[in-house]
Amino acid sequence: MTRGQSGATEPVRRAKSSLQAVLATKSSETERDSFVAVAPGRVNLVGGHTDYNDGLCLPTAVDRHVAVAARPRDDDLLRVHATDFDETATIGPDDAPDGWAAYVAAVARVLREQVAVPGADLAIASDVPTGAGLSSSAALELATGRALLAAADADLPTVDLALACWRAEREGVGVECGILDQFAAGLCEPDSALFLDCRTREYEQVSLGGAVGILVIDTGVSHELADSGYNDRVRECREALSALREASGRSLDALRDVDRDLLEAHADALDAAHYRRARHVATENERVKRARDALSAGDFERVGEAMVAGHESLRDDYEVSCSELDAAVELATGTDGVYGARMTGGGFGGSAVALVDGAELGRVMDAIDARATEWVGADARVFACRPSGGVRLVDAR
Ligand code: GLA
Repeated sequence: MTRGQSGATEPVRRAKSSLQAVLATKSSETERDSFVAVAPGRVNLVGGHTDYNDGLCLPTAVDRHVAVAARPRDDDLLRVHATDFDETATIGPDDAPDGWAAYVAAVARVLREQVAVPGADLAIASDVPTGAGLSSSAALELATGRALLAAADADLPTVDLALACWRAEREGVGVECGILDQFAAGLCEPDSALFLDCRTREYEQVSLGGAVGILVIDTGVSHELADSGYNDRVRECREALSALREASGRSLDALRDVDRDLLEAHADALDAAHYRRARHVATENERVKRARDALSAGDFERVGEAMVAGHESLRDDYEVSCSELDAAVELATGTDGVYGARMTGGGFGGSAVALVDGAELGRVMDAIDARATEWVGADARVFACRPSGGVRLVDAR
């Protein structure tokens, strides 16, 4: 169990000191010329697997961050030290490395299409757990992008930076993801959830007020999007869409355009799995709207209901949950003081998120933590987090 709120202070300190120590820049130069950016992980309260179907989602950033310290170089190389792995990579403009360096290389490559990004020494430190479904990869992309822009003495609107990072993830890393994670890591504001329309890319901040708390139950089952069934689900949605387009004779652009009535009218055009995938997307978009309205009205019980119904749909219709996630949700929803819980992120492992009565947060966390390893698994852990702000530069001194 991790108590309290960890700000970005700790990863920022580690990123700065390894820029100096490991990448051997003189401290006077570090102070003068370096930049530090941080970007948060996220949980998604409702709206799972809707983003790449042009749908709606409702994430909130968490107070776990990736920090990237950057200092421009005179050549076009990126020399990058990942403090958490104690590894250093040197990346040329045409290199396509694997692993964590792939994200850095891809962001630099996409940004260089728009901005003259110089070579740079970079140091990365993070307290966003990896493989936990909290989108550490988008946090790394956004923090890298913001730090590289600062090193280039350039700026981009955050929406454009988020879109560049989204392209980097798709093209550089090969995950056919939607914009949820990059927009959350870019645009969330403290104490708010981000109501995001992934078709129009319009968004609105919805205040969470002080009355609720958020708990993450990390199952300890690592999920790797590129290796999981994620891209299979993206393909199934495309297939369902094209069958429904043909059956209905309508020009449907995405599953977003298929509501439940349309789906039922043409259910015969789909096999059982494709029907269930499309049903999840249709019902999940409805749940996001309901949750947004309920959140605005301070009706956390209804937000919780939408979360639980969303989990059931992800489990049964979309089939991206796993027994550990189901157990985490069951454990949380069976605990007094919890409004609702669901898996968050791509699934096949990772974390569940619970929305909790803020006045009861400590007791609820203790109660869940006491049973987490028995219910969920030996590596399960529970922590509280506070809705945080998106990517930003912090003082480099
Ligand atoms: C991952 C992807 C996102 C989104 C979620 C599921 O986090 O990166 O684009 O599809 O899964 O909602």
